[in-house]
Amino acid sequence: MEKNSKIYVAGHRGMVGSAIVRELQRQGYNNILMRTHKELDLTRQKEVDDFFSEEKPEYVFLAAAKVGGIMANQSAPADFMYENMVLEMNVIHAAWKNGCKKLEFLGSSCIYPRMAPQPMPESCLLTSALEKTNEAYALAKISGLKYCEYLNRQYGTDYISVMPTNLYGPNDNYHPDHSHVLPAFIRRFHEAKMNGAESVTCWGDGSPLREFLYVDDLANLCVFLMNHYSGNETVNAGTGHELSIKELAELVAEVVGYTGHILWDTTRPNGTPRKLLDVNKAKSLGWTAKTELKDGIRMAYEDFLYNPLRAER
Ligand SMILES: NC(=O)c1ccc[n+]([C@@H]2O[C@H](COP(=O)([O-])OP(=O)(O)OC[C@H]3O[C@@H](n4cnc5c(N)ncnc54)[C@H](OP(=O)(O)O)[C@@H]3O)[C@@H](O)[C@H]2O)c1
Repeated sequence: MEKNSKIYVAGHRGMVGSAIVRELQRQGYNNILMRTHKELDLTRQKEVDDFFSEEKPEYVFLAAAKVGGIMANQSAPADFMYENMVLEMNVIHAAWKNGCKKLEFLGSSCIYPRMAPQPMPESCLLTSALEKTNEAYALAKISGLKYCEYLNRQYGTDYISVMPTNLYGPNDNYHPDHSHVLPAFIRRFHEAKMNGAESVTCWGDGSPLREFLYVDDLANLCVFLMNHYSGNETVNAGTGHELSIKELAELVAEVVGYTGHILWDTTRPNGTPRKLLDVNKAKSLGWTAKTELKDGIRMAYEDFLYNPLRAER
């Protein structure tokens, strides 16, 4: 990318999209194209076609998606599949039709099989069944990355994809029913501290192992890949380190300053037992994550407390 290349960041108000915009600006890119969901609904094909034929972005980061935690995914699988599939097809297709030089598609590590080898290499995609709780979302994301691959093969495009592990950081979603585990913990422990609650009850038994990447690190990788990676196989984005949900809860409680008890509701689902990405591919390309988990949680908590945009989410 040149510093004045026309770069469209789809989903620029989301956690990932906003981090990509920050990173692009930090690196001096000065021609960034953005549209809010209200201005451009990416599930409407005609609107997307009109936007691309008018603006002709040279580079596209596709970070718009309907995103949610276990509860949201389980209660609305049809919506998760439909909205994500349609949005992805509209954007990727319009980019290709309008000569976009390079597109980067953001997926998620839930595309990998439930019983994938751990750590999960990119090559385990589609080797066995998916985790049921987010199957619809995963199928939509697999379709998006495969569509990029098929365009590359059939039409010689240079469209790539990146699969991040669990993310957290500025502009995260802290909704009580629709958030991921780390932001959900930040909110719950903060509220428990403010209300003087004696205990906080978390879902499951705390045993699942998870990995968390600070979103600004991901954004740094996304820009790096746009400039330095071409290929059909996706690239995993993670830290290579894992901890149990129980350890995570204790760490968040410590950062937030909550000193009550942490209880576990074992009637609630745990989700996949272990989820760690194999990050050797990103490493071999010359990239590693920089932010320590505790530092990242501290920065995320500050954002939770002071970011004025959070109230709108
Ligand atoms: N968060 C994570 O832990 C995580 C982990 C791995 C991968 N990812 C991937 O990263 C990508 C972005 O996730 P995120 O966490 O940044 O999500 P997010 O904060 O919810 O942001 C998604 C953005 O997409 C926009 N959007 C959704 N539907 C749209 C539509 N029909 N038309 C136009 N804009 C639309 C949203 O706008 P509105 O808010 O106005 O609807 C929002 O700005 C996703 O592909 C996700 O799979 C996220």
